[in-house]
Amino acid sequence: MAEVLEKNKDQSFRLVQITDSHLFADSSTIFDGLNTYETLKDVVNLAIQQQDNIDCVLCTGDLTQDSSIEAYHHFIDAMSVMDAPQLWIPGNHDIRSQMQQVLEQNSIHLSRSVVLGNWRIIMLNSSVEGQVHGMLDQKELADLDFELADSERNNSNVLICVHHNCLPVKAAWLQQHCLKNSDELFSITDKYSHVKGILYGHIHQEFEAIRNDVKIMATPSTCIQFHPTNDEFKIDNANPGYRWLELEPDGGIKTKVERVEEKNYNIDFSSTGY
Ligand SMILES: [Fe+2]
Ligand SMILES: [Fe+2]
Repeated sequence: MAEVLEKNKDQSFRLVQITDSHLFADSSTIFDGLNTYETLKDVVNLAIQQQDNIDCVLCTGDLTQDSSIEAYHHFIDAMSVMDAPQLWIPGNHDIRSQMQQVLEQNSIHLSRSVVLGNWRIIMLNSSVEGQVHGMLDQKELADLDFELADSERNNSNVLICVHHNCLPVKAAWLQQHCLKNSDELFSITDKYSHVKGILYGHIHQEFEAIRNDVKIMATPSTCIQFHPTNDEFKIDNANPGYRWLELEPDGGIKTKVERVEEKNYNIDFSSTGY
């Protein structure tokens, strides 16, 4: 059953999405010219300066690059200044069992879903060990269908979070790394009119679209950005960032991407991979 974080159905909720921090066991590691631990802390500091009250933080995968216990501890340390419940899902660089090991037994971080007033947030695991692309297995799809039927009975609006992109990107190299069975995801969500948003990371760029009245959103990484249109791997010159979302009681979603502005990073644009 979904954990209830807030019962009041008349209020709006402010969420922050932090994604693709790609931390390493050694927090001084430089990755394509960036120290990912430093850039995560820069983004987190920006978020807490800009957001007065955060109701929940959505951490949508690739929390680490090397899936080490040490890297997950660094993630917890960097996020500790955020005074809000966090929900985590694994990305292609994560290992869920490693994530579990750094969390307390009763923590909500890896919950399937939570309730915030008139909203239910559903977290899906699209990672396939050893693969860059994503896939929702039968358990994830069945749980999604169950959660959507249950939340429909409660007259809730729904935001779904997943790591991999379920809509195509323009950059050809990235397309093969998408969620491979997004048709199965959509065949479930299309049955319900209370699904209002689908949110992901993975593509390291800002993206927004409307599909079947559902807002589809992707968010910049807290470290390097992928060029949105280049057909081969190319790092974009945009700075690290995050997304905030305001979930309104009537099902509306206000949202915006914010990036670190007052800092020049030493990004290695000659990198041919990540
Ligand atoms: Fe990533
Ligand atoms: Fe990813």
